Amino acid sequence: MIDTPRTSPEPRTPGRRGRSALRNALVVGATLALAAAGTVTALTGTASAASTLAGAAAEQGRYFGTAIAAGRMGESDYMSVLNREFDSITAENAMKWDALQPSRNSFNFSTADRIANHARSQGMKLRGHTLVWHSQLPSWVTSLSTNDLRSTMNNHINRVMGQYKGQVHSWDVVNEAFEDGSSGARRNSVFQQRLGNGFIEEAFRTARAADPDAKLCYNDYNTDNWNHAKTQAVYNMVRDFKARGVPIDCVGFQAHFNSGNPVPSNYHTTLQNFADLGVDVQITELDIAGSGSSQAEQFKGVTQACLAVSRCTGITVWGVTDKYSWRSSDTPLLFDGNYNKKPAYQGVMEALGGSDGGGTTGGTDGGTTGGGDTASCTVTYEQTERWGDRFNGRVTVRAGSAPITNWSTTVTVTSPQKISATWNGTPSWDSSGNVMTMRPSGNGTLAAGSSTSFGFTVMANGNWNAPRLGSCTAS
Ligand code: G3I
Repeated sequence: MIDTPRTSPEPRTPGRRGRSALRNALVVGATLALAAAGTVTALTGTASAASTLAGAAAEQGRYFGTAIAAGRMGESDYMSVLNREFDSITAENAMKWDALQPSRNSFNFSTADRIANHARSQGMKLRGHTLVWHSQLPSWVTSLSTNDLRSTMNNHINRVMGQYKGQVHSWDVVNEAFEDGSSGARRNSVFQQRLGNGFIEEAFRTARAADPDAKLCYNDYNTDNWNHAKTQAVYNMVRDFKARGVPIDCVGFQAHFNSGNPVPSNYHTTLQNFADLGVDVQITELDIAGSGSSQAEQFKGVTQACLAVSRCTGITVWGVTDKYSWRSSDTPLLFDGNYNKKPAYQGVMEALGGSDGGGTTGGTDGGTTGGGDTASCTVTYEQTERWGDRFNGRVTVRAGSAPITNWSTTVTVTSPQKISATWNGTPSWDSSGNVMTMRPSGNGTLAAGSSTSFGFTVMANGNWNAPRLGSCTAS
């Protein structure tokens, strides 16, 4: 049992993180309208409950994110589930030191940029992971002298934060700087050995100057149980930082749980006590070994604990699907290897107050169910070009496992954006002019699994957010 929440969450303005909530509202609205016209083959959800993780979390004023591996971005089911369910991305490995600065002063941002660009094109948030960490650290760093290491650490922070300035909502500035066990000591990393305790503070000060708008987090694991020495040690550091004005905005709780390290009964107390220091708390790498209802209950409990702390701003799970988890044999995530929603998913949705989004559908988007002979389709968006005042978008419509004869979807832009041109489709508009319903030009037939696309130009008028897609409905 997780301890009883003492506070209720404060309502928050959804902002960008409301993307999915709005999309879900549109999905439901569009689905109901089309149902009345007799064109919908499957209806799911209710008019009030969001049907995706991000949508349901947004209604609670939180983001719901996932770590992603750049190497999986070519897999369409992976991307469909990512785009449908999550509104924040953490690069699982691509923003670590060994990936970004493999040799001294030689930075390689190409893979990380791909992830950042995807987040931007989908209107998702981006979490930065991680700037200063003893692991995945190239060997050239470990042989530097004290002064060299100091300037190298600060240079790394400046260059990486500079690259993603304005895009990353929260950075894990320092990761895992404390020992496990009962000592409460600092980890004996190269940074600790050469620079002493002060390296953490120095990293945060450098980070604040590098991107004053990013939230700066300390991130660690095994800090979930309030009674553990490591939890207390991190707490004391954060309290000291706040007392002395060292810039720190958030504490990340990795939350890697298994039977030897279960979700503690005092988890809510831990999150609340940190929040009471005046920092946000975030669950940053959630995964829980197990299966079935026991795993579901634990996911539900963690989600409830976050919702009960007004400064718990969001949850990130450490991967999309069990099959690509760093510990896949533990099946610790919300989707199985075939992208089916697990009971764990339903557990999270129950805590968030969302609907479950239609059962165990694999990579489909929004409210239509896939599989069997049911007509269904998915939609994905990408930005194809960008100029000083406008950008082009392309939506790919893909039939599910059955052939379809017709489809439609909605594209919503945010005022003062305006869609100024469209191609390869027949648009109609709502009264605001912001919601475009797109149907095929002529024949809407698609064979099972095949796709077509349409395009449009958005005049940005200062707003570069990605348009939001409704669900794809098919007959
Ligand atoms: O990409 C190479 C590949 O080219 C090579 O053939 C292969 C052989 O070992 O290695 C591949 O790199 C692996 C990388 O994951 C990408 O799959 C590394 O060996 C492997 O060590 C690395 O593991 C990552 C681990 O951090 C490293 O510490 C996991 O994916 C990643 O999930 C994990 O994430 C950490 C967080 O950053 C911090 N908190 C704990 C969490 C779980 O350990």
